[in-house]
Amino acid sequence: MPTTLEVLLAPAEYTLLAARDLRQTVCVVFDVLRATSTMVTALGNGAAAIVPVAEITEALAIRKRQPEVLLAGERDGRRIEAHLTGGVSFDLGNSPREFTAARISGRTIAMTTTNGTRALRACAPAAAVLLGSFLNLRATAEFIVEQAAAQLLLVGSGTLDQAAYEDVLGAGALCDLLWPQYGGGAVSDSAQFARRLFGCEQNDLLGAVAQSRNGRRLMAQADLREDVPVCLQRDLFNRVAGMGQDGLVRTWRIGGTTVD
Ligand code: MLT
Repeated sequence: MPTTLEVLLAPAEYTLLAARDLRQTVCVVFDVLRATSTMVTALGNGAAAIVPVAEITEALAIRKRQPEVLLAGERDGRRIEAHLTGGVSFDLGNSPREFTAARISGRTIAMTTTNGTRALRACAPAAAVLLGSFLNLRATAEFIVEQAAAQLLLVGSGTLDQAAYEDVLGAGALCDLLWPQYGGGAVSDSAQFARRLFGCEQNDLLGAVAQSRNGRRLMAQADLREDVPVCLQRDLFNRVAGMGQDGLVRTWRIGGTTVD
């Protein structure tokens, strides 16, 4: 079957997805720093599910209906505090290091971040929506190959309205893993240069990401600095994270085993 492999680099591109027919397309959303890395970590540490929402008000509405739900997310990189919500402080921010088993095991988490959760929501009409990160890259690639997805769209969440270097690197790393299956099909120029960028930077990912806009921002803050190397660990979790038609992000597969 003919395949397509495409990478969306900048937020302006995923805001146009509403006009595309994604019903046969598998999307993989990357927000390496930090939303998809954090969600993969949350599932790896036993969270039941994550509900990604674009707006703070949506997260608050979920909490009102389901008081047991944890609230997580950031604005300007910091945990959402009461002054942004009319009185409710969120339980967690957007650092993967906060999402320990002790805090989130068995819990459902409503989460809103500046770009990552918006990118996920923009991909919702797709045949499948996967969460991409360095933390679960190999499991994600194996799942895509097993599913024999013909149309593959890798989506970089970006930073505010710009492309993010680390998301292009993550997408490029996945392109590289999938090249034997997809490199001979219709490959967009953006997929070509994402893969080539990864090839240039793969031997010092931390050095490369430390120079990126998000990397510089996080590394300038003593309490967030460690998030950068944590999010760049390769294949820490042998699991696939996907967003279902119900809008919930769950573990879809651990190793070769499908999760119900
Ligand atoms: C986002 O969704 O824009 C990012 O995850 C921001 C962050 O690093 O907190």
